[in-house]
Amino acid sequence: MMMAEDTLRRILLERPEAVSLFEALGIDYACGGERTLREECQRKALSLDLVSQQVAALPAPEATCAEFVYLVPLPELARHIVETHHTFARTQMPRINRLFERAAQLHSSRLPNICRLREQMMDLSDEWSVHMIREERGLFSTVHRGGNPHEGGCRGVLAGCAMRVSLQQIRLEHQMVVLRMQSIVTALSHSLTVSSLTDPLPRELEAMLLQFQADLHLHVHLENNILLPRLEQLEQTLRA
Ligand SMILES: [Fe+2]
Ligand SMILES: [Fe+2]
Repeated sequence: MMMAEDTLRRILLERPEAVSLFEALGIDYACGGERTLREECQRKALSLDLVSQQVAALPAPEATCAEFVYLVPLPELARHIVETHHTFARTQMPRINRLFERAAQLHSSRLPNICRLREQMMDLSDEWSVHMIREERGLFSTVHRGGNPHEGGCRGVLAGCAMRVSLQQIRLEHQMVVLRMQSIVTALSHSLTVSSLTDPLPRELEAMLLQFQADLHLHVHLENNILLPRLEQLEQTLRA
């Protein structure tokens, strides 16, 4: 079965709508893009046959995402990430933190871990804000200055990248934020299940966290599986 041996990244390039399916199944497509579908299904104890069938049933786009993402100029891709995902994160993180604050004030007796989770989310927000600023001032700004690598300027892009950022460091920070976010969501959901609270506020907080997490996965996917590999590919081409 061909799809079983395809990487998650490859599948998403061919069938971008698989993002929603992977998100619903808890498949780590954002940081685990280089795993094959078989490996990820084994890791998550999912039926490979069932997941393959679900992916195959998704509509294939007329022009594959692979074509799109390799044709779209890098500055445009970087701009899309900033305007869509960085903006969303900057809007949502303060809202989530305010809701955590209220939940901690009202429900610390019924939700004993709420103060710890609030602290963890605040730390994550601070660090993710720094990560995004560093991307915008470093990697993304050099991409913008270099222009479309297919139209020249790629040496400038790569020289800038090499000086300013470590792509490995970016990937590591992505992995950390995804893991920490998962840990916060899992702990809160578990607490809510055992507390039998009727106040809707903590459930509202959980919904906001899940929404934030889904966007975070998409954000990291675009960088880990599309933007950074394209930069690395360019680097290899220039070295050859
Ligand atoms: Fe980013
Ligand atoms: Fe990033």
